[in-house]
This record gives sequence, structure tokens and C-alpha cells, in this order.
Amino acid sequence: MPADLNHSTLTTAGDGAARIAELFYWMLAGATIILVVVIALSVYAIASKRAHHERTTKRLVIGGGAILPTIVLSSLMAYGLSIMPELHRPAPEGSLTIRVTGVRWWWRVEYLDIGGEPFETANEIHLPVDQPVRFELVADDVIHSFWIPSLGGKMDMIPGRTNYLTLHPNRTGTYVGSCAEYCGRAHANMQFRVIVSEPDEFQTWMAGQRRQAPQGDSAGLRVFLSSGCSACHAIRGTDADGPVGPDLTHFASRQTIGAGILENHPNHLERWILQTYQVKPGVEMPAFESFANRPRQLRQLIDFMGTLQ
Ligand code: CUA
Repeated sequence: MPADLNHSTLTTAGDGAARIAELFYWMLAGATIILVVVIALSVYAIASKRAHHERTTKRLVIGGGAILPTIVLSSLMAYGLSIMPELHRPAPEGSLTIRVTGVRWWWRVEYLDIGGEPFETANEIHLPVDQPVRFELVADDVIHSFWIPSLGGKMDMIPGRTNYLTLHPNRTGTYVGSCAEYCGRAHANMQFRVIVSEPDEFQTWMAGQRRQAPQGDSAGLRVFLSSGCSACHAIRGTDADGPVGPDLTHFASRQTIGAGILENHPNHLERWILQTYQVKPGVEMPAFESFANRPRQLRQLIDFMGTLQ
């Protein structure tokens, strides 16, 4: 993973994540105080030779064993509860709404209320900085959990219901999202990228995503259609309209392949097509090993995928 990618709850780039990080630091401070007091009392108890007054003993036991932990833990609980309304506050009406569906083992991403034609992409989410975003989180098969550690808390995706999560990114950059609920063999390889950019840059990206793939007949598209790729994958503007796997209309604009696990590079795409299962054990996409005997067609296919900007 390149060093400029953020995948940490402590490198915050969202309001929710900042509150959660503050809570973590206060809990760490509270835990440190309790630990220091417990160790000091233990050392004192071991080292002390003389017998104590019964009153002093009682004070130490009740004060250190009951009163101090009660004060520290109650304060931390009160503080933890006090930030929950902010974390759960719904996004204002008219906010950017993105539906993300957890699928074994990738992410379907649909831009819905965006003041224009909705569109679909996969495994990569672009957001404008300093604007609240409303996520509608659903699942097709099993329970997944949607988590962008640098932006905010996680939220389960449960088949048969819709959960909502509001995030408010406050710093541009590229962040990593993960599935945070064990969902089967490729759970650890179910990642995505989040790109937070300035609003005009975001609008340019949206305009690009809304476009259909470039029209025209190409050898690579014919390979795509005749080799079975289009049974699962859609490329808007062509005859490929498979609804099962990730929409590939703007595949070449994305940073990764295989749900966040390989950088998007022609060599990686070749490996992905030929050895899908070795790259991502458990993946539902079959490997197309027969391309090994058809290098020209494989090259045409990969070149065509590279044009899907
Ligand atoms: Cu999806 Cu773990």
C-alpha cells in the first residue's frame, strides 16, 4: 500500500473520525491514570512494612477500588455518549446521496441524488471536501460492514434493510476503506478507495462518470463481448450489460483492480484475468486461463480496458 494512503483512525480527515479520535485519546488518558494508580498502590502495598490504621486501609480500598474507577469510567461514558448525537445526525436534505452495496467481495457504488442522471461505479468513492454525504448502506448476500477509518465510524450492511451513515470529509486526499465484518473467504481483500477532492474537481469527475463509454467497434470490445465478460459486467454505451459484477464503464479511471487489492496497471489486469483465484482466493469471478493461448486477444482486451477512462 503506497505511503500516501490513509487507513488509520488517528489520521483523521472527517468530522466523525476526529470526534472518535478525541474519545480514544481521552480513554487512553483515563486508562493511563488508572494503570498508574493501580501500579503505585501495588508497589506501595508490597514495599510497605508497617501495619496500617484500619481507617487508612478502608479509605485506600474504597477510594482506589470503587470511587476513583467510578468517577473515571462514568466521565468517559458521559463523554462517549455526548458525542453520539453528532455522529448519528442525519445529513441535511439535498445532501449528496450514495448507495453502497456490499457484495461478496466488492462494493457496488451508486450516485443517486446528485442533481442529474444517477450513475454506477465500483470499489472507488469520490467525495467533495467540506460537504456532508449521506450513505445508504445495503447488502446483497451476507452482512458486511462499511468503514473508512479516516473519515468516521463504521456501519453494518445487512441484507434486507437499509442503514444510513453520514460522513463529513474535511481534508482532501486518498483514503482506504475496508469491510469490517467477517463475510467469508475474501473478507480481508474487500477494500475500496475514497478520493476526497475540491468541489470543482469532484464535479469534473462526476461529469466524466456520467458519460457512456466511447462508442465504436474495437477488437477489444469484441473480445469482451465474445469471451463471456459481458455476462457479468456492464459497460454503458455498449452491448455489455451484465448486472452481476462491477460496472466497468470507466474502469481505466479507477486506481485499483479486484476491490482495492491491486494497483490498476495492465500487467496486474493480465494477472487478474489469467489467475483470478490466485490473486484473490475465494473470488466469484472465474479465471479466464484460456487467454494464455490467445495472447493477441488478451492484449486487445487489456488495451480496450485501458481506453475506458
Ligand atoms: Cu465484506 Cu467482510
